[in-house]
Amino acid sequence: MDFSVKTGELATLETACLVLGVSEPRTLSSAAQAVDHASGGQLSKQLETGDLDGDAGRMQLLYQLPGVAAERVLLVNSGKSGELDRRTFDKVLKAVFARSAELGLTELTSTLAEAPVAKMTPYQRQRAIAQAGAHSSYRYEHTKAKKPNAKPPLTTLNLWVASDAERAAAEQAATHAAALAAGANLARELANLPGNICTPSYLAEQARALAEGGTPSFTVEVLDEAAMGELGMGALLSVARGSREPAHLIVMKHNGGSPGEAPVVLVGKGLTFDAGGISIKPAADMDEMKYDMCGGAAVIGAMQAVRNLKLPLNVIGVVPTSENLPDGAANKPGDIVTTLSGQTVEILNTDAEGRLILCDALTYCERFEPAVLIDMATLTGACVVALGRHPSALFANDDQLAEALATAGEAAGDRLWRMPLWKDYDSQLESNFADMANIGGREGGAITAAAFLAKFVGNYSQTVPWAHLDIAGTAWVSGKEKGATGRPVPLLVEYLLRRAGLAS
Ligand code: BES
Ligand code: MN
Ligand code: ZN
Repeated sequence: MDFSVKTGELATLETACLVLGVSEPRTLSSAAQAVDHASGGQLSKQLETGDLDGDAGRMQLLYQLPGVAAERVLLVNSGKSGELDRRTFDKVLKAVFARSAELGLTELTSTLAEAPVAKMTPYQRQRAIAQAGAHSSYRYEHTKAKKPNAKPPLTTLNLWVASDAERAAAEQAATHAAALAAGANLARELANLPGNICTPSYLAEQARALAEGGTPSFTVEVLDEAAMGELGMGALLSVARGSREPAHLIVMKHNGGSPGEAPVVLVGKGLTFDAGGISIKPAADMDEMKYDMCGGAAVIGAMQAVRNLKLPLNVIGVVPTSENLPDGAANKPGDIVTTLSGQTVEILNTDAEGRLILCDALTYCERFEPAVLIDMATLTGACVVALGRHPSALFANDDQLAEALATAGEAAGDRLWRMPLWKDYDSQLESNFADMANIGGREGGAITAAAFLAKFVGNYSQTVPWAHLDIAGTAWVSGKEKGATGRPVPLLVEYLLRRAGLAS
């Protein structure tokens, strides 16, 4: 997707579609006013029909306006004057790009950064526009022999600014959005690929490809099962034993900060297929468990964005990746494994495998002495029951980190909701035969999963600020529109941009 920042006379701008905002009640944005003027009041006349009145996101498409060079003008209701918030703005953008996709437009021009969105800087508005445009341009085609979707995707998005003074912010927004959206779209592609293509080895290859052309500022290392065995990753390897696909531990390093600076470490669950193991899942919708690597895909996508943006930070991405299948060597309920941390775990349910691969990955990260540690995982169905599909769940042992992540999520349109990380839940994980069980019963399932993980970050020499994101409800959508969302890549990149002092 190409972005270009445009300024100057709107009426003479050659574009397939000029998008103009109209706020309630029937108020033309200043860009729309200029076009109205050039067309001899055509827009004002259209408004009088009342067809645009109502909800934000309503649209009216106009062709061949006199005195206007654009092939089409798309008027969009941008909500009540002075009340446009980020949520509504996202809704408006979604509507605009959905219409554009329907029309098969490959190019369009947005003037929507003029919309008065509360608490959003011009940079943030342009970012949101560019991000929504790039998100809409993704098509899944990898395994389709026939390409039924004849309409081409958007390839060029022009961001219009009223004056040269606004150009720099818009250009920076476009650069950031391009990298962010490419990272999110990479995560979506990896996630949408079926389990027989996107295996742990495939994920490792894709991660390795990020370091192609080899610079010391971005390196990728992949640990195989032998290396993990030598380290003592008994929990991770126990999950992989039930599968013919070998497990891997992918380690990506972006060295953009000063050499001694403590890194931000991202860890993502990379279960390329989760059948549940011996505690096998019901057949209905089991295909969706190809999405159980969305945490890992998000880490790979975010690392690509970080690399492309050359962020002046040290960032490490770690993806433990495996399948979870039932076979003669698979974990059995009651089996006890020794984790890399030395703690033992009784596996009462083999379907609670995410925490088993994550716990060893988290312990492994100790060696990086992280400034902050953030893991993300499609960890529990219980999380979807608790929060539905709008926010990802946030658990954190540090209020400052929780606050920074929540703020970044808000700003990136990729929201989080905080859940408790309290010792009170630990008793649910007690085992008669090991240091802990891998499940904590029906109650508070997302929370006990987080409490389990917490036992593997507590033994850092100095407890590291840690956050766990349960993305089970947000990483993909089910039903007719089934597909990966790319979340939480927007949130991660936003957090890192802010940490680098670049997102304003
Ligand atoms: N990957 C699943 C969680 C999941 C299920 C995410 C459905 C999204 C939709 C995870 O490995 C799992 O199976 N968790 C179990 C835990 C339980 C056995 C304690 C679950 O949620 O049922
Ligand atoms: Mn499972
Ligand atoms: Zn799983």
